[in-house]
Amino acid sequence: VEKDGTRVFDLRMQAGETEFEAGRKTPTWGFNGTYLGPTLRAERGEKVRVRIRNGLDEASSVHWHGMHLPAEMDGGPHQEIAAGGTWSPQWTVDQPAATLWYHPHPHGATEDHVQRGLAGMFLLDDERSARLALPKRYGVDDLPVVVQDVRFDGARLDGGRGFLQNVGFLGDRTMVNGTLRPYREVADELIRLRLLNASTARTYAFGFPDDRSFSLVGTDGGLLERPVSQTRVQLSPGERAEIVVRMRADERVMLRSFPQDNYGDGWQRRFGGGDDSFDVLELRAAGRLRPSPDLPTVLGKLEIPDGADAVRGRFFELRRSGINGRSMDMGRVDETVTRGTTEVWTVRNDNGMPHNFHVHDVQFRVLEVNGAAPPPALRGPKDTVFVPHGTTMKLALRFTGPADPDTPYMYHCHLLYHEDEGMMGQFVVV
Ligand code: C2O
Ligand code: CU
Ligand code: CU
Repeated sequence: VEKDGTRVFDLRMQAGETEFEAGRKTPTWGFNGTYLGPTLRAERGEKVRVRIRNGLDEASSVHWHGMHLPAEMDGGPHQEIAAGGTWSPQWTVDQPAATLWYHPHPHGATEDHVQRGLAGMFLLDDERSARLALPKRYGVDDLPVVVQDVRFDGARLDGGRGFLQNVGFLGDRTMVNGTLRPYREVADELIRLRLLNASTARTYAFGFPDDRSFSLVGTDGGLLERPVSQTRVQLSPGERAEIVVRMRADERVMLRSFPQDNYGDGWQRRFGGGDDSFDVLELRAAGRLRPSPDLPTVLGKLEIPDGADAVRGRFFELRRSGINGRSMDMGRVDETVTRGTTEVWTVRNDNGMPHNFHVHDVQFRVLEVNGAAPPPALRGPKDTVFVPHGTTMKLALRFTGPADPDTPYMYHCHLLYHEDEGMMGQFVVV
């Protein structure tokens, strides 16, 4: 923390080698290490500055996924950091407590840079999250769970896409926080898992083999109004969920990803990964567990627009070839929105394969899924939403600026192969 109260972080992007399995070194990239990056953490109202050095031998960028900030601090493809160069964005945290993340966003090479290992969590806290009786001892009863699928080709991480895999790269095993076959010893009755799908293409449906219910307490951009009991939570690439699981003394329970019945036709389930299942993270409970306070029944008010004051609507047709028939062009602004207004965006996927939709700078509300009210898991603050084939969603978004007619924010499919191939557009706030 500097004299004026600014919280300063240092990140160095670097190439190195990681020993995922004993005796086998794999070339990887990381922030301040050889794979993934440190968890950054700041409070609402705080000024933050991140001093980044790109120690790689190619240009990249660092994007703050889910963060509300000025477009020039966003870290998208327009804020490229040259090889050997530096970048020091700063902004004031002005949004509720949430599990956000950061990752590179260089034009056309995002999938590759993320796959090599560049990603980390960025947690936000606020007065409410400090006060609520939720598990909150980081690394003890509040665990970051960064999930990625990988495939090894000898000692190398193989990023190649299979012939029939039109969603992008799909691995044959998963890692949590860069660890294969991960387990975690826990000693509290209630364990909070901050799940981040940091995979480039794979969608997961998390749950437990005994189908125990858990409490979903947060989505991408922060806490729900109240905990919702679920047995599965589905996350497409880039999405987050915070869940709280009740443990019994001495048990071992596996967080798994299950096949998904809403993933599309048989072809998509088979070749797009919807039929797959994985053991993701084993929780090993101690013989005696510390009692945890009951979860609050009310978590608080949502700070997302309800769309009642929307001044206009826009339509986004998701296709593999581009959004609204256009492939990403760095020099073209696709949409211009007015600062301080609310809009309703309709997003449709009729493209025969799964996509998702991510919007920079905002946390939106899902108003409708195929004309019906959204399921409980889609009622919290969202910045990324899974849009399977045959889905039309209505989203309410509020743009609070600051205005910058010259620097666009992005919206895109977060299946990174699709994004890199042009499923992305640009909007400015004026
Ligand atoms: Cu997580 Cu535009 O990205
Ligand atoms: Cu983003
Ligand atoms: Cu897509």
